[in-house]
Amino acid sequence: MTIIIKSDEEVSIMRESGLINAEVRDVLYNAIEPGITGIELDNIARKEITARGALATFPGYTPFNKPPYPGAICFSVNDELVHGIPNDYSLKDGDIVSIDLGVTYRNFVSDAAFTKAVGNISLNAQSLLNTTKEALNAGIQKLHIGNTIGDVSSAIQNHSKSFGIIKEYGGHGVGRDMHEDPHVPNYGEASSGLKIIKGMVLAIEPMFSIGSPVNHEKSDQWTVVISDGSLSAHFEETVAVTDDGPYILTRNK
Ligand code: MF3
Ligand code: CO
Repeated sequence: MTIIIKSDEEVSIMRESGLINAEVRDVLYNAIEPGITGIELDNIARKEITARGALATFPGYTPFNKPPYPGAICFSVNDELVHGIPNDYSLKDGDIVSIDLGVTYRNFVSDAAFTKAVGNISLNAQSLLNTTKEALNAGIQKLHIGNTIGDVSSAIQNHSKSFGIIKEYGGHGVGRDMHEDPHVPNYGEASSGLKIIKGMVLAIEPMFSIGSPVNHEKSDQWTVVISDGSLSAHFEETVAVTDDGPYILTRNK
């Protein structure tokens, strides 16, 4: 395992990348309404990223034994958990949609995601969204020098209420590469694991489901779906560890 520690100067470049990510996510958030398609949202993302002098991180991303990822965003609807490829599905009232966005600016990546309700959704679905976001914030609040990765993981687990915790995916280091060490599970024991030190930059990303968290990949080799068809949510931010505590690089408010 190689943990890449960022200098103060690198963190400030990552902040610029993160602010662009936040601005583009705001545009996408506001564009989500019944009728819009994944491809339309993907085109908006590409245009807004380019207009800010940055690059979309995801297109062409090719992990071992997968086809290159085609989208600038991930567009995952309802029981689709993550890594949904933008398509011509048109969002409808009552859907929930997860949008994941990677921005590369001055060679540094920011990685962040949100899930939004389209029109009116059930109380249980709204609770899933609120709970997943609260778990993200609880995990982030553990990113203090001297804590451990297990403190982050257990805070997320402890905020999951009765929702299913997805075990196969989690947070990660981020920097010049989108995925760096360490892996940050969304469940675990407080005080266990690696010590958190200044200059770590981590993407924290809880994913919960209403039903069983068991999931599988679709035949497109990217889209991950919840196997029992239940709704799932995903919130993510890129966060730097500083002397003053967690610095959320991908939030502008
Ligand atoms: N935030 C996602 C992750 O950490 C990024 C997906 S990369 C993609 O896994 F290229 F597959 F979209
Ligand atoms: Co990520």
